[in-house]
Amino acid sequence: MGARLLLPLPPAFSGAYPAYAATRALDDLRARDYSQLDGSGHVYLDYTAGNLIPLSLVERHMALLRDHVLGNPHSTNPASALTTTHLERARKSVLEFFNADPEEYVVIFTANATQALKLVGEAYPFDADGEYLLTFDNHNSVNGIREFARARHCPATYVPVVLPDMRVDDEELARQLARPSRGGPRLFAYPAQSNFSGVQHPLDWIPLAQKHGWDVLLDAAAFTPTNVLDLSRWRPDFISQSFYKMFGYPTGVGCLIARRAALAKLRRPWFAGGTITIASVQGDRFYLAEGESGFEDGTPDYLALPAITFGLQHIAAIGIDAIHARVTCLTGWLLDRLGALHHANGNPLARIYGPRSTGGRGGTVTFNFYDSQGRPIDHRVVEERANAASISLRTGCFCNPGGGEIALGITGTELASCFHQPEHETRLTIEDFRLCIDGKSTGAVRVSLGLVTNVEDVDAFIRFAETFLSAFAGADVEGRQTERVL
Ligand SMILES: Cc1ncc(COP(=O)(O)O)c(C=O)c1O
Repeated sequence: MGARLLLPLPPAFSGAYPAYAATRALDDLRARDYSQLDGSGHVYLDYTAGNLIPLSLVERHMALLRDHVLGNPHSTNPASALTTTHLERARKSVLEFFNADPEEYVVIFTANATQALKLVGEAYPFDADGEYLLTFDNHNSVNGIREFARARHCPATYVPVVLPDMRVDDEELARQLARPSRGGPRLFAYPAQSNFSGVQHPLDWIPLAQKHGWDVLLDAAAFTPTNVLDLSRWRPDFISQSFYKMFGYPTGVGCLIARRAALAKLRRPWFAGGTITIASVQGDRFYLAEGESGFEDGTPDYLALPAITFGLQHIAAIGIDAIHARVTCLTGWLLDRLGALHHANGNPLARIYGPRSTGGRGGTVTFNFYDSQGRPIDHRVVEERANAASISLRTGCFCNPGGGEIALGITGTELASCFHQPEHETRLTIEDFRLCIDGKSTGAVRVSLGLVTNVEDVDAFIRFAETFLSAFAGADVEGRQTERVL
């Protein structure tokens, strides 16, 4: 990457985070390959939802599509054969990127992380003697697997996370993992990084759980964009992830990386085009294809898939360590500055849900703002003002209700009394829910940093946050009682 004129770093930042200096090549990459950002005046802080598109990756992909004849890989003609070559190259690239032994792991391409999780959920051999163990802190696409377990009379148990850091109590987890088996299959699922709080849950839970007979499903969707996942060191049975979160393009492709031994335990609930060697109408039988083919339903997104190789090369060329170092420095800077904002009367502006320092956390920072009287400022107001300031952030519970319930202090009793009201038997809108848990926030604000975030992005967000200080420093500058019902 060539040198260019860079804005000087604030001395307080470079003093506190000297490791940032070595990542300045990413500023050059941002100018060259992510020019959609700086031309627009847009401050993008929603990397946990999706990474930004690097121009060079799109161009490389377009050149491939322009210069080659690619056909449906389920045929055997030359156009099909070329596609198959690219698909197999993409599969190999994924294994190599994560340092996974092809003898041990297979890559199943899916539409996204959710579909990868569903493949496991619907085929895992849950039974009445089995167990599904998961952390409170999980994306809904992991929570939803409990419905497959429940349909087969298999209990699901949640391990809570604990405020203020929103980490799991290690002793409680060890106790749950070590409890005697009920005799059936046991599945333990957790995120390597929380999409709510940014907490990185320990990867050494993987061998611990496996020692006690659990199959481990690691949801890596929020982790892999900024962290090394080395599958020669950590060997979960199943790993789910979406590629657009790692390198922005293409959308619509994710994968399940599965240990061959674990895959053999799954029982697919159906067969489909592409997944069988032989299926017969009159003979009423089907034979599932071995390995990944048995799990890729129908025609894959075969024009998009070659770009996975290019995307992984893009990340490898930058270096995931450099991305990690940069995001860690900027997260520290964001946490320091956000935590230092106080109203004139000394009350803090933000309540941060999750770790306040960079150890064991990623670049996802979630919080709510409070006025000088300690009353929460509706996350929807924050979002509205951020939108008006061209700042893209996220609000709500981010499809992670367990994280939200713990952070916002919403209890199981309150939820039960809400859900069991007769009028909420089959239908509950967000507005109904707000009224139900009267007096509490139903959501939070999330700012998430990624591969081309820079100091100016963080500073722009802090300047935005400061407007809530001046606006809400007194009782309420607009002269209204700030609403407590959010
Ligand atoms: C931790 C985690 N798991 C799973 C998902 C689901 O990913 P997708 O929507 O791409 O299926 C997300 C999406 O934000 C996530 O952050």
